Amino acid sequence: MSHPNLLVGTSTNDDAAVYKISKDLAAVMTVDFFPPIVDDPYIFGEIAATNSLSDIYAMGAEPIVALNIVGFPADLDISILAEILKGGAAKALEAGIVIAGGHTVADEEPKYGLSVTGLVRPGEEVGNSNSQPGDYLVLTKPIGTGIITTAGKQGVVSQKVIDQAISIMSALNKNASEAMIEVGVNACSDITGFGLIGHLKEMIEGSGTSAEIQLSSIPVIEGTRNLLAKGIVPGGTLRNLDSVEDNVLWSEEISEDDKLLLCDAQTSGGLLISVPEPKLETLLKNLSDKNVDCGAVVGKIVETNERNVIEVKM
Ligand code: CO
Ligand code: CO
Repeated sequence: MSHPNLLVGTSTNDDAAVYKISKDLAAVMTVDFFPPIVDDPYIFGEIAATNSLSDIYAMGAEPIVALNIVGFPADLDISILAEILKGGAAKALEAGIVIAGGHTVADEEPKYGLSVTGLVRPGEEVGNSNSQPGDYLVLTKPIGTGIITTAGKQGVVSQKVIDQAISIMSALNKNASEAMIEVGVNACSDITGFGLIGHLKEMIEGSGTSAEIQLSSIPVIEGTRNLLAKGIVPGGTLRNLDSVEDNVLWSEEISEDDKLLLCDAQTSGGLLISVPEPKLETLLKNLSDKNVDCGAVVGKIVETNERNVIEVKM
């Protein structure tokens, strides 16, 4: 689809659509919803809302208003739905947005998420397709939530590890986004279902660049590697690895588990920010000043040859 006012549409696999309303104002729009990944309905609501808001934050925009999207089984206790919506409302309050309505359909399993609208000055949106050779890549949350929540469903992981993953998934990317906007960066995307490698692949394909990342510099939630070693891998993670193989050069020391880890399908992951080298230190300082727990330099953007490639080193 193209339209003179559509500044960002579907052509670059970006996180949200950007539609220019006037010369000073553009609307940024996204929608995301999914079935429960944790047992507690309130926490599920928090995580789903946080995840939905994340695409607006990744665009460097300010979320203002949202609508609930709900699927719910007719025979399930309605108080569970109330808890899910309460969790979502709590995150909306924290984000400073208003939930203005929504829609519910009968569904075999519960599903929840938000359609979120944000605002940005036209041209100041941070897309995923302007990374430049020489940029550093900064990641603002550790990875491993796909593997941990899968282990949670199977009941084979400690509550301590699950709690850590929950606190990461329910942390808004608001402060990370504000830190990035203040500095001015070249590109950003949030890490969700396609995993770190998958979302980086979209970024370099859209940008016409390649990337190098270093396994040892990538933050991983404690306990994730143990679960991998036990053979716990989400289906989505396996599919992710399959779909990126043509674009990744794995260095020889990288194990099969490492590959799966880097492709792990995340829920409500961090921002992956492509920042010009002269602004790197300011960005890292900004992130830490704004109490973003993680500001890890995980790699660099490099020139591309004929193919957009991610080289993964130890
Ligand atoms: Co996204
Ligand atoms: Co999304």
